[in-house]
Formats: sequence, structure tokens, C-alpha cells
Amino acid sequence: MRRIPIEYAKEGDVLGKTLYNEMGGMLLKEGSNLNWYMIEKLKSYGYLSIYIKDKYTEEDIEEIIKPEVVNRIYSLQGSLNNVIRGSSNENKIDSKKVRSHVKNLNEIIKEVAYDIVSSKNVLENLASISIYDDYTLTHSLNMMMLSIVIARDIGFNMNEIKSLATGCVFHDIGKIFLPIELINKPGKFTDEEFSLVQSHTEKGYRFLTDHTDLSAVSRNISLCHHEREDGLGYPRGLKGDEIHIFNKIASISDVFDALTSDRPYRRAVPLHDAMEYLLASGGNHFDIDLIKVFSQSINVFPKDTFVHLSDNREGIVYEINSEFHTRPKIKVYGENGKKVAPYIINLKEHNNIVIEKVIHVFSFDKTN
Ligand SMILES: [Fe+2]
Repeated sequence: MRRIPIEYAKEGDVLGKTLYNEMGGMLLKEGSNLNWYMIEKLKSYGYLSIYIKDKYTEEDIEEIIKPEVVNRIYSLQGSLNNVIRGSSNENKIDSKKVRSHVKNLNEIIKEVAYDIVSSKNVLENLASISIYDDYTLTHSLNMMMLSIVIARDIGFNMNEIKSLATGCVFHDIGKIFLPIELINKPGKFTDEEFSLVQSHTEKGYRFLTDHTDLSAVSRNISLCHHEREDGLGYPRGLKGDEIHIFNKIASISDVFDALTSDRPYRRAVPLHDAMEYLLASGGNHFDIDLIKVFSQSINVFPKDTFVHLSDNREGIVYEINSEFHTRPKIKVYGENGKKVAPYIINLKEHNNIVIEKVIHVFSFDKTN
């Protein structure tokens, strides 16, 4: 299974992951044979990419968070949002209902955190999270998963990981108090709009403090996930050691997931480009040591990714090398634009060859 931009989808491709609408209802089931009508329909719904299985990529990738669990989180978060939106102002929110939804959500998050920490395949599967068209929900879950993996790899204990995970799920809760048009606005914000957007940190923190029993470190993530190492972040402009490690981790996962997700106004950046960006910004924006851990923890070339190699071969990522995941085994299908009988090459044993770029179709297939 692999993720492709929607314009590369063609009749006969098999949908790799079930797609849901914004109400959590099923739009198209995994395993559906795509036809022209369905592809056009998905485009009209605003999907920019989908997961497919085709003749090259038949194997299923195990979901880290099972779709049923995602749906439970989705519906609880929906109920929580309704309680907040249903109140006439921020002071009239029904705290009792909020506490009950947050408590239930927290129970599921704990289970999920445990599953992620104990999953051996997390490296392979991390980039295969279901695509929902509710960006805030998907983003919160993705960001939580990435944060948990970093925390696990720097040796946090399970209690710390759970607190971090909870804080991540609620990190952008403050956005619910902002106009939706502003959150989805393409292009640049005016100064006034930007300061309103920035206020989601303080609004979220105030909400969590007033209406939930979350711990201080969890709540702090909503306040501090936009702080930067160099002090140029917001809302307080904290620097380096003034920023709690949970918030440092959250800011890395937040930016990485935002870059690698489709937005209404721009397509997702490939995982390896997003990682390059983070590595290049480390020190100014992020904690450089955490970025190093992150780059070791996250596999930017998941299994089944189509790749173009520096020696003009093309193939798919066949087996991940867990010590050095930029050098996986590749099943080669093409050389110099010509189809060849498939064979395996292990990049770990060929230091002179690198993955040059991710592609979505083999060049020898383009002419067909
Ligand atoms: Fe945020």
C-alpha cells in the first residue's frame, strides 16, 4: 500500500484505506476498485491524496491505531466540540460534560499510547495513518503518535508518555474558539489575523485549566507548542531550557505532521523533504538533540514507497533497514527508464547509491 497524489489514481487501483466524511460516516471502503467516477468524486470532496494497493504493492500495512479506535476518539472529540460550540460563551461551558468526555478520551489515549510504545512495527507504519478529512482530528492523532515515538526512544516511562500523549491530543483545542474560515485560510494572515490565530494557545490552555482535570504538564502543551528554541515563538517567547521537554517534542511533531499533511491550500510535502527541513531548522526552531532522535525514529521511506535511485534505477521500498532507514532494500523494476525483471538491491551494501526522490509512477509505465 502506498500514498499517492489523487491525480495519479487510475481506474483499477484498489483503495488501501477506508475514507470517511467529516461526520465519521464511511465514504468509500478499503478494497474498493476505483473507477473514474469515484476518483472524480474524491477530488470533489477535496482529497489530495489517497492510499492505494496496485500490482506492485499488494501487502497490507497494519494500522497502529485500529480504525474502530480512531472512530471512538473521533466521536468523543465530536461530542466534546459540540459541548463547547453549544455554549453561548467561554464562561458558560458545561464543565461536567467536558470532564466526562475528556475522561473517556483519556482512557482511550492511554491504551493507544501503550499500543504504540509496544509496537515493533511502528517505524514501518508510522507514515500510514488513516486519512480523514477532519484535519484537526487527524493532525492531533498523528502528532500524538509521533510524540510518543520520540518519547519512547529517549527513554520516558509509561506515565510520562501518557501525559505527553494526552497533552498532544488537546494541543490545538483552542482553535475551536476561532472562526473556521480563519483556521482554513489559504495564504498569508494579516497581522490582526495572525495574532488571533496565535491566541489559540492561550485560549486552549485556559479552557483545559478551567474545565478539565488534566495535569499541568499536559495542559502546558496547548500553551507552549509554538515556542521556539531561539525565543522567536509564541505566546511567551520562551527560549531553550525555559521550554519543557514535552513542549519541545510537541513542537517537532506538530510541524512535521503539518508539513506532511494535505491542506486545502497545499499538498503534503514528502516525508524525507519534511525531515530535511526539520534537520536544517534544528537549533533555531527546535531542540537539535531531539531532532536527531526524531530523524532516527521516523522512517521517511515507508515500505512500498516508489523511489528513483541516483543511478537511474526505479523500484519500491521492499524491506526497511531498522538501523539506517534511509538505506532500505529496494525491489528494482526499472533501469534507465526501461522495465527489467524485478530484483532486490540492498542499499546498505551500496553506499554510492542513494534514494534521489520519491516518485508515484515508474517512468516505463508512463507511456502505457
Ligand atoms: Fe497550534
